[in-house]
Amino acid sequence: MIAADGRVLMISGPARGLGRALAERLRGEGYRLSLGGRDAAAIGDLVGQWGSGPDVSVHRFDATDGDSARTWVADTMGEHGRIDGLINNAGLLEGFGLDDYDEAAFDAMWQINVKAPTLLTHLALPHLRAAGDGRVVNIASASGKRVKGGFSPGYAMTKHAVMALTHATRQHGWADGIRAVAVCPSFIATEMIAHVDTGEEPVIEPADLAELIRTWLALPGSASVAELIVNCRLEDAL
Ligand SMILES: NC(=O)c1ccc[n+]([C@@H]2O[C@H](COP(=O)([O-])OP(=O)(O)OC[C@H]3O[C@@H](n4cnc5c(N)ncnc54)[C@H](OP(=O)(O)O)[C@@H]3O)[C@@H](O)[C@H]2O)c1
Repeated sequence: MIAADGRVLMISGPARGLGRALAERLRGEGYRLSLGGRDAAAIGDLVGQWGSGPDVSVHRFDATDGDSARTWVADTMGEHGRIDGLINNAGLLEGFGLDDYDEAAFDAMWQINVKAPTLLTHLALPHLRAAGDGRVVNIASASGKRVKGGFSPGYAMTKHAVMALTHATRQHGWADGIRAVAVCPSFIATEMIAHVDTGEEPVIEPADLAELIRTWLALPGSASVAELIVNCRLEDAL
């Protein structure tokens, strides 16, 4: 197993939802965190509640602004001196279908769900190689594995692309000890699905996913899991 102590993780979108649960769980484990998001005040409030010191840094990251990604990675190296892991968590769900296609919304999902994580992976890769056992966690979705009913086909397309990014990262980084995983949950209890009819059964709690990802991060390179599919609903083939 890989001990958390001293390892530096970058997490995008940590102010709320799954990103917040991840930040809380992984900080408790002993990782040093570099948190990147749009709402620096909200992230600052979170960090303030922890009473944190130099083991947590807060950065402006807007997935629609490539320069903010470059600055975040450079400043993380400046402040922590290393990057051991990248968690691409920030994401966007837009609900249009093929009958009511919305090109602007589709572009926004591609930018936030696919292009930004790809740029961050590119920028972090040399540092993850230098770390020797770098880790990349991409929060994809069950919508990265299948298309279900009329549920946001554009979102499913972007999340399928996240699967490809994850496997490309494994191919590029394996020889240097880098491992990557695509996390593919069904519904998670966050604001993202506040307006989605999820039915009667309970949905996944962010803290449960954070615990799963904590376990994945501790696994050695010789026990690498490429995809984590997490169900709260019975699926035909997942
Ligand atoms: N909820 C679900 O049912 C579900 C299921 C499967 C997968 N996922 C995936 O899980 C991940 C986390 O989503 P969530 O459920 O926690 O949803 P959420 O509560 O809506 O949170 C979305 C996060 O993405 C960030 N974000 C959105 N646009 C951004 C941008 N332009 N730049 C930087 N950050 C941006 C948000 O930051 P702000 O606070 O600045 O808005 C927020 O932290 C996403 O990748 C999502 O696709 C969610």
